[in-house]
Amino acid sequence: MNIEALKSFKQSGDKIACLTAYDASFASVFDTCGIDIILIGDSLGNVIQGGENTLDVSMDDMVYHTQAVTKGAQNALRIADMPYQSYTNAEQTLTNAKRLIMAGAQMVKFEGGCEHEASFKILQDNGIPVCGHLGLQPQSVIEMDDYKVQGRDKQSADKIIKDALALVSWGVKAIVLECVPANLAKQVSQSLSIPTIGIGAGVNCDGQVLVSYDMLGIHVGHVPKFVKNFLIDNGDVKSAVDAFIKAVKDKSFPGEEHSY
Ligand code: KIV
Repeated sequence: MNIEALKSFKQSGDKIACLTAYDASFASVFDTCGIDIILIGDSLGNVIQGGENTLDVSMDDMVYHTQAVTKGAQNALRIADMPYQSYTNAEQTLTNAKRLIMAGAQMVKFEGGCEHEASFKILQDNGIPVCGHLGLQPQSVIEMDDYKVQGRDKQSADKIIKDALALVSWGVKAIVLECVPANLAKQVSQSLSIPTIGIGAGVNCDGQVLVSYDMLGIHVGHVPKFVKNFLIDNGDVKSAVDAFIKAVKDKSFPGEEHSY
């Protein structure tokens, strides 16, 4: 799996299956099952570190977990998250993105739209592939006040569309759409030349991502509506991952019950 293959998924309409991983063992199982993308997500702040949010995750944490995942996964495309406050200006973004690439990531992801124009552009100029992240942005939890569905009103839907088009013009290779109404995610996906990867964004995104711990039924506290436990009916981790990949590819996941 590589960036060229991402483009062909978009062209052929084949769905992209993505899971988060934070260590070599899980990465190796997911890779063996044939997952297309492994996201070394800053959700590790919640599921590994036990934080209430992702704001305490550091660049050193992301480098450590990216190195571990890289040892376990050789086939899937590895995307690593840039943590909170690690992309506040262009130079800092470039320095930190290079650290993740050196650690084994093939693409970096960060949250936000036009406000990060300089960061997107410097990575494009330096040939570092970027995945965007629009809709619900967990690193903005303080400003948002809570984790809420985004893009329900016209003004915020228009902003998501505008940001997505800007990101494409700055060379972004894929965009995660988190917690947006399914019809908006469909509209965005149809307007872009690059794949969208949805989480709580309906079945019409070009791919789907879940936090692997959620997909395996390991939750602490509130379980979002978009989560499905694939382990419960499948007995072991490998079968659960196979079932997740199959459900993404045949479009049976997410169902209406997982969408907004
Ligand atoms: O950090 C993460 O796991 C993510 C997903 C929720 C998309 O960004």
